[in-house]
Amino acid sequence: MKRVAVLISGGGSNMVRLLESMAGDHPARAVLVGANDPNAGGLAKAAALGVDTFAVDHRPFERDRAAFEAELIRQLDAVQPDILALAGFMRILTPDFVRHYEGRMLNIHPSLLPKYPGLNTHARAIEAGDAEAGATVHEVTADLDAGPILGQARVPVLPGDTPGDLAARVLVQEHRLYPAVLRRFAAGDRGRLDL
Ligand code: GRF
Repeated sequence: MKRVAVLISGGGSNMVRLLESMAGDHPARAVLVGANDPNAGGLAKAAALGVDTFAVDHRPFERDRAAFEAELIRQLDAVQPDILALAGFMRILTPDFVRHYEGRMLNIHPSLLPKYPGLNTHARAIEAGDAEAGATVHEVTADLDAGPILGQARVPVLPGDTPGDLAARVLVQEHRLYPAVLRRFAAGDRGRLDL
């Protein structure tokens, strides 16, 4: 049974779907949910689902990313995760942190990578006049939003879409895609899934 830890920064809607998916004959179970903000709404949701949680407030560390990440690693490695899933985690991780979990760390990004790495992905897709948008689950490597793609889900961009409209449409697909990719990844399948 693979042990999965999840990192969040906010509401954790993707985290909730991941936790709910790891049941029955699923090859993994959630062992911990962490946040970089003690007020992250997702922490209470994880606790309600019976999963242990922790928070490491990044603000006291100011620009000392290494010290912040050392505390994250200390808390995470106490439960010996086989897989680390970033789900709405909004801190950029240093190459040292990535190397520590390389090959077993996933992230979901709200664009059809390699298009639109970084922020404001929906506004950029609308601005570019793209006919479709979507989400990508990828392995995390030292290059931001650029690791091997494990899955993608596509949605149409509709006339008059605001970034909020598109974000909501993409989020529905994120909630399908991430659990499906995590299940395959936990079973040792790193093939690409296109929903
Ligand atoms: C989602 O758009 C996700 O793609 C991005 O963070 C946003 C919020 O995710 N990574 P969640 O509701 O906190 O899971």
